[in-house]
Amino acid sequence: MKTVIISGSNRGIGLELCRTFYKNGYRVMATCRKSNPSLDELGVDVIEGIDISKPETYLSWIQTLDSSIDCVVNNAGIWRTESLQNFNTDTIMEQYLVNAVGPLAWTMALLPKLRPSAKIAFITSRMGSITDNSSGGRYGYRMSKCALNAGAKSLALDLQSQGIAVGLLHPGFVRTDMTEGQGDWEAEESSRALFQRIEELTIESTGIFRHANGELLPW
Ligand SMILES: NC(=O)c1ccc[n+]([C@@H]2O[C@H](COP(=O)([O-])OP(=O)(O)OC[C@H]3O[C@@H](n4cnc5c(N)ncnc54)[C@H](OP(=O)(O)O)[C@@H]3O)[C@@H](O)[C@H]2O)c1
Repeated sequence: MKTVIISGSNRGIGLELCRTFYKNGYRVMATCRKSNPSLDELGVDVIEGIDISKPETYLSWIQTLDSSIDCVVNNAGIWRTESLQNFNTDTIMEQYLVNAVGPLAWTMALLPKLRPSAKIAFITSRMGSITDNSSGGRYGYRMSKCALNAGAKSLALDLQSQGIAVGLLHPGFVRTDMTEGQGDWEAEESSRALFQRIEELTIESTGIFRHANGELLPW
């Protein structure tokens, strides 16, 4: 049985990713800051108390794992709203930590626990694309996801010789708490599409930035 570890698993896209991977026969290690009945009832392994921006909450737990992880899905993320009139360096730095630096540090800590030819997926956003930015604003979210893309691309190149593939995936515009229920897709549809893209990911397609629907996205 393959093992996947998914961050930000207690709600939204992360919860549905846990359900999808589990239904497809994976052992799911669902990490979160705090669980809830929706996650508990899935039947997956729930690991509470993990904050992706705070290595002190996960480093000793990672030491207890054996090296049998087949897939890491970096899903946890936050959205804050800066604008020209409301430029807030605190929320920009907060997003930088949770959306960019945190997922990379978490993934680096997990590397010794991955099986050869494991896969790593980053749930990023097309809002991190400079080419695709046609509406401005959202400084911290855009900058943090752009930084995540840059880091994930380096990781893809650095891990290529080990046969570990890295995917950068935009989940679509999805109805979750983050979007206050707005969007084109339910989290369940998005998670199914993301699962397909992760299943298709190979060392030949490592480091590519895609929409969950398969479309290639510009940097
Ligand atoms: N929804 C969209 O349309 C959309 C579009 C593009 C990209 N994305 C990306 O997709 C991912 C999931 O988004 P979503 O829409 O499902 O958002 P969501 O409903 O707001 O869920 C966010 C998840 O991230 C977790 N999280 C936040 N900060 C964390 C931290 N410091 N440590 C650990 N977990 C943390 C949350 O846990 P708590 O309950 O503990 O806060 C929650 O489980 C994010 O990376 C987001 O940027 C979403």
